[in-house]
This record gives sequence, structure tokens and C-alpha cells, in this order.
Amino acid sequence: MNSGFNVHDAAGYEQLMGRWSQKLAPLFIDFVRVADGEKILDVGCGTGSLTFALARAADLSEIAAIDYSPVFVEEAIRRNTDPRIKIQQANACALPFKRGTFDRAMALLVLHFVPEAGKAVAEMRRVVRSGGVVAAAVWDHLGGMPGMRIMIDTVAALSESGRQLRGRYCFQPMMQPGEMKRAFVEQGLVDVIETQLMIRMDYRSFDDYWAPIAAGEGPLGKYVATLDAAERAHTDAAVRDAYKAGRPDGPRSFANVAWACRGIVP
Ligand SMILES: C[S@@+](CC[C@H](N)C(=O)[O-])C[C@H]1O[C@@H](n2cnc3c(N)ncnc32)[C@H](O)[C@@H]1O
Repeated sequence: MNSGFNVHDAAGYEQLMGRWSQKLAPLFIDFVRVADGEKILDVGCGTGSLTFALARAADLSEIAAIDYSPVFVEEAIRRNTDPRIKIQQANACALPFKRGTFDRAMALLVLHFVPEAGKAVAEMRRVVRSGGVVAAAVWDHLGGMPGMRIMIDTVAALSESGRQLRGRYCFQPMMQPGEMKRAFVEQGLVDVIETQLMIRMDYRSFDDYWAPIAAGEGPLGKYVATLDAAERAHTDAAVRDAYKAGRPDGPRSFANVAWACRGIVP
């Protein structure tokens, strides 16, 4: 298996995560410090949140973007109007570029969905020139996503399959403190720095929060789709109750922390 990310449809992804990765992208770009004239690779571009933010952030000469999902690649190509951006379907663990092609390779919210995440870091290192930068950011599902823990902890209290989902979700690759930094060092990157980036996810209502998961998007949507009708009704009601937290339905705002790491190719 090359990708652990469950793709349902591009519009669902936007509501589940794309709208939030668009908020996170400028913080990640600031951390990576892109500069005019550079060639950048966006690994796991999804629907293009980082790709299009990069195009706005600096006068880059080229932005290459790859993703494993043909659904997301098609959507990112459909949205693109910038001739500097080239998008194609590819695997992060076998990048279709020559050694030293790019000034920087960046992966936003991708490595935790790559089963062989270390291999993806090695590939990013290979395609970046000496002195260039490899960088990645992943969510801290265990300690940094209270909005998603609402669902995860609720389903874990309801069933054994929910408990197993929580175990998998909280310990995806690269999410533990220092884990990504260690992987970068193991792949020979130098001057490796790990930090945390924070955005808030602001929902209008329970339906705004729940609709993409209920429709089957992402790893939590994949779990919900396995439930029978009675389990599903029970889960929907319990997660709604947890979201509301004793108040009428309406807006809720959650802090979300991502680990971000960057290192230099020697
Ligand atoms: C949470 S999405 C992030 C997408 C985008 N970077 C963003 O921030 O919105 C995770 C992405 O990683 C991609 N992905 C997972 N494994 C991959 C692999 N082995 N090679 C390329 N892309 C992969 C998925 O297809 C998906 O688009």
C-alpha cells in the first residue's frame, strides 16, 4: 500500500481538510522560507492548498506538484491557471525526478499517510540539490487535534472497532514528538529543526463539522462507512452530543497543532 489516505471526492476533501490546509500553508511556507527564483516540489499536493499558496508567496520559477490520488490530481489541474505550476500523479516513495532537480521539496499533511514515510523523506532528499531544503508538516493527532479527538474518543467509547481506530489514528507515522526530526536525521539531512504550527478550525455548526466525515471522506469517514445503520445512528448522535458539549448547536472553534520539520541536503 502506497497511501493510507482515503479519498472520496475533491469537494468533500475541501470541507474536511482543504479549507484548513489553506490556512496552514502560509505558516509552513514561512517556516521553510522560500525565495524568488526557486524551483519547488510539493509532495502530496492533494487539491493544491500548498501549491497555490506557494505561487502567491514568492516569484518562484517553477512549482512541481505530485499526488498519489488521481481524483485530487485531476481537481488540482482543473483549478490551475498558473503556467509555472506542473501537476502529475506520482508516488512520494518513487518521485519521477532526477537527483538535485529542486531547491526545496515540501510535504504538507502527507507523511503521516505514507506507510513507508522514511522512504518518502529519502526521495525528497534525493531530488533536492545540495544546500537545498526538505520540509514536512503533519498533524499531531494524539495531542494537538481536540476537534477530531471528539469523534475518535466517542467512537472508542462505543465499540472495540472504535478503540482500534483511535489507536491507529493517534499513532500514524511521524506524529510523535521528535519522530519526524529523527527520520530527517536518519536520511542524512543536516541542521534539522522541528517546530509546531497552530491554526484554529472554526466550524459553523455540527453539520459543518460532520458532513464530510459522514459522507466517507478521509480516514474517519472510511471508518464511519463501515458501520451498520444502528451503529451509525448511535455514532452520529453521540458525536453530535460531544460537539455540542451541553450547549445549543452552533459555531465551535478548535486549536490544531502540526509538527513541522525542515533539514538541509548536505
Ligand atoms: C491530508 S491530504 C494533504 C493534501 C495537501 N497537501 C493539503 O495540505 O491539503 C494527504 C495527501 O497525501 C497524499 N498521499 C498519501 N500517500 C501518498 C504517496 N505515497 N504519494 C503521494 N501522495 C500521497 C494523498 O493522496 C492526499 O492527497
